Amino acid sequence: MKHINNYGFTGKVAIVTGAGQGIGFEICRQLAKQGAVVFLNDIDEDLAHEASLKVSKDGGNCIACPGDSSDLSFIEKMTAVAADRYGCIDIVIANAGITLFGDFFDYPPASLHRVLDVNLAGTFFLTQAAAKQMRKQGTGGSILFTSSVTGHQAHKDLAAYGMTKAALEMLARNLVLELAPFKINVNTVAPGATLTERTMEDPNYNRIWSEITPMGRPALTSDIAAAALFLVSDHARHITGQSLIVDGGWTATSPSP
Ligand SMILES: NC(=O)c1ccc[n+]([C@@H]2O[C@H](COP(=O)([O-])OP(=O)(O)OC[C@H]3O[C@@H](n4cnc5c(N)ncnc54)[C@H](O)[C@@H]3O)[C@@H](O)[C@H]2O)c1
Repeated sequence: MKHINNYGFTGKVAIVTGAGQGIGFEICRQLAKQGAVVFLNDIDEDLAHEASLKVSKDGGNCIACPGDSSDLSFIEKMTAVAADRYGCIDIVIANAGITLFGDFFDYPPASLHRVLDVNLAGTFFLTQAAAKQMRKQGTGGSILFTSSVTGHQAHKDLAAYGMTKAALEMLARNLVLELAPFKINVNTVAPGATLTERTMEDPNYNRIWSEITPMGRPALTSDIAAAALFLVSDHARHITGQSLIVDGGWTATSPSP
């Protein structure tokens, strides 16, 4: 994976959820490489440990935090551990999100509740816990949510998921009022189709999205990480309540896959 900018995160403490693989993993890798201490969360315990070991071997300081990012007691524990161990939390990237496809007419309540819990409640309460710590520190901070182009454009069989992603963007705008007084900015990055371990399970994914994306290919995790790192860097201190779409132009035309 290429390594684009160096914003200098030395001395910063970051928490990234849902980061055992895919976009979150690449964000952790780049943050750690640029000097941040990274708490890498994943619900899959083995994956959390393997991924943090990989990040550390690549030249970073990464601590595995296995657990369910939608579990409120786990959120409290994770933020307390980071704050106790390093005295502060500077960056939080609420990246964990699940995509449960399903026909609207048959969409089961259990799927809806799980999507709401992970994508929304987990993000909301992680932000609440981390922002309390940032407020206490008095040194400000940066919070980033991982949204999606499906929060901007309708997508077949993704009503529940798309709804949560649009809601995350409104949450970021709303939290400007609550968090700006404490010098905490809060933004979202909205990826389009991205090549990850999960999406590449579909053997046609790369071909289909290469055909329908104006820039001729789906995103790489490094494309999303580049935008994410900018938004949590000191270069973006005056940007808050915004969403940055990284989709090779797909939302401009939005053809269905
Ligand atoms: N990949 C894409 O094309 C794409 C496009 C738009 C938005 N997104 C968003 O980007 C984010 C990351 O997506 P991805 O495709 O890189 O990741 P992914 O779907 O491969 O999941 C990454 C990790 O999250 C973990 N996870 C799932 N539920 C969790 C929970 N409750 N607590 C902690 N960890 C949990 C999984 O175990 C997995 O290792 C998600 O919010 C997703 O909605 C992805």
